[in-house]
Amino acid sequence: EIMRRKLAAGNWKMNGLKAALSELDGMEAAAQGASEVLICPPATLVAAAAQTAKGIAIGGQDCHANASGAHTGDISAPMLADAGATYVILGHSERRTDHDEHDEHVRAKCKSAWQAGLNVVLCVGESLAEREAQNTLDIIGGQLAGSVPDGATGHNLVIAYEPIWAIGTGKVPTTDQIGEVHDFMRARLEKRFGEGVGRSVRLLYGGSVKPGNATEIFAVSNVDGALVGGASLKAADFVPIIEALN
Ligand code: G3P
Repeated sequence: EIMRRKLAAGNWKMNGLKAALSELDGMEAAAQGASEVLICPPATLVAAAAQTAKGIAIGGQDCHANASGAHTGDISAPMLADAGATYVILGHSERRTDHDEHDEHVRAKCKSAWQAGLNVVLCVGESLAEREAQNTLDIIGGQLAGSVPDGATGHNLVIAYEPIWAIGTGKVPTTDQIGEVHDFMRARLEKRFGEGVGRSVRLLYGGSVKPGNATEIFAVSNVDGALVGGASLKAADFVPIIEALN
């Protein structure tokens, strides 16, 4: 029997000045529980967060595919690792949309992150139009095939299913809809990487996760935790979500 450690991950997106680091203090006690807790602050706070956070893993929100070079404004995976990050989020729909990132870019970034020793939280998810056209599983399958490089393990890869229409909207798929996608992703990973690896990769749900809906989402099969945006900014919101997972 493969045990997957539950993961409560927070994506602060482009939010947080230095003062926000005090929220990490409020999360520390909850982070002593059974679940792993990860916060991905903006890049400006990664080093300080990694220095102050006790028992909370720190991650970046993106990285360049190259380790160094003439790429003004970009941040590489070795830089994130050097700053104390142990994770990086890749392929978030906001990156795919705002920065025209496609599967091949995400795949290259993922390889670079692995080379730097970072664990990757790789995001996939369909748009509302794609769901309404009943293309959800095709889209997710295509993103998994295209974005995830060979060499995945239960340690270096976490997949986050984030339906685009559920991000920041307060709209959440039904538990049946979440379960359908997560079971599908599990099957795809087992098929490609073998049962051992496929069963050990953690699958997170993301999109309007709040203290009030976390318990029912965490009860869905193959949901190993959450990638939380807005409700990860404040300890008062994120702690009950961590506790629902513990
Ligand atoms: O990466 C997490 C995110 O996209 C979900 O955001 O604010 O709907 O929890 P939110």
